[in-house]
Amino acid sequence: MKTFKLPKDLKLGSATSALQIEGNIHHSNWLRWSEFHYIFDGSSCATGANHYGHLEEDVELLKQLGHQCYRMSVEWSRIEPEEGLFDAEALRHYRRELALLTEAGIEPMVTLHHFSDPIWFEDKGGWQVSSNKCFFMRYAEKVIRVLGDLVPYWITFNEPNVYFHGSALEGTFPPGEKGIDNYFRGSLVMIECHVAAYRLIHDYYRERLKQSVKVGVAHHMAYFTVVDQPHWWETIVMRVMNRYFHEFFLEGMTVGHILKPFYSRHVKEGLYADFIGINYYARHQVKATPHMETLYATVEPMKGGNYNDLGWEIYPKGLYHFGKLLYKRYGLPILITENGTPDAKDEFRGDYIMDHLYQVYRLIKTGVPVTHYYYWSLMDNFEWADGLTPRFGLVAIDYETEERTVRPSAMLYKEIIENREIRR
Ligand code: BGC
Repeated sequence: MKTFKLPKDLKLGSATSALQIEGNIHHSNWLRWSEFHYIFDGSSCATGANHYGHLEEDVELLKQLGHQCYRMSVEWSRIEPEEGLFDAEALRHYRRELALLTEAGIEPMVTLHHFSDPIWFEDKGGWQVSSNKCFFMRYAEKVIRVLGDLVPYWITFNEPNVYFHGSALEGTFPPGEKGIDNYFRGSLVMIECHVAAYRLIHDYYRERLKQSVKVGVAHHMAYFTVVDQPHWWETIVMRVMNRYFHEFFLEGMTVGHILKPFYSRHVKEGLYADFIGINYYARHQVKATPHMETLYATVEPMKGGNYNDLGWEIYPKGLYHFGKLLYKRYGLPILITENGTPDAKDEFRGDYIMDHLYQVYRLIKTGVPVTHYYYWSLMDNFEWADGLTPRFGLVAIDYETEERTVRPSAMLYKEIIENREIRR
């Protein structure tokens, strides 16, 4: 077994999102979606871990586990439950959360939009309607004004590609209105909002707060591959997927470059990111199928690998691949904004963390400035269409009693954070 030293200035922590852990959310389109029974295990995001009610205890847990940074999101549907009506209590709650984190010496990163939309926004056509941009921008401005002084890192949008893949292609996310035109129409609106929010945040910090700030997007990077001797169609589908699942958002949200054949008169080329956020989980194989429904191809885990509880293939080298690629292309610091695995028995989570941190170590060794690593997730949570069944947490949640139990892998991660050392 060999030991590798992680640099002292690499910040190690964890990530969550509001809808997945807070509970007591009454105005999100995901609650409505759960009520329509579109969740595979029949569960709902209505209560879950009830982080909203366990705020102090959960921040204390983060502290005890030695986390140096924490990525959270604020829930739009809680802050603006009805169009134009902002809930002062909700905003006070988030200020309290940020103050608690800061007091505990944990650096916060806040996501403005993590998959969940207010019901009223969805009913107005959501991201499909270009003029709805003003609603997101009004919400963003409100949040920045109220919380800005406590937040050094902002993520405008979490995984726009997964959001539109789920909501417009697969139909597993609300509103589930399938159509390729919906995928691109909505994506362009979101790219425009990112660019506008990036400017808004920087202007506000420079002119009003006189503080520095870093803004970016958390991009979901899926490692697509084909078998050794692929069918020509598989190679084409893989290229198309890389282009429109990855490049479309990376290029649009980082440098304002809209890939052909699309166009936006609202986005000029420029720099709209201070870092590249990478959410990385697994490797997927593109396979041809005879079904027109799925565009004659499916994306599945590669055969013969290691799989997690959801059947995704664990492939740590993919993290190295994306870190290298994106640093070479954009020259911006790299933050691993999510990386984790469902592992209900906590049998391989420790190795998963070690193996991925080893790739972070390799990236840093070869000159790629990786500054943060956020394990997904601090605690078990509502895994969108898969419901409450998958267990991603360093901390286990008993959904009956809301009791928190620290898993052994969380203790191992704590040791890594303290000793700055990984063993393989
Ligand atoms: C999302 C998280 C999700 C995680 C595991 C990411 O796609 O940002 O919300 O829970 O992956 O699937």
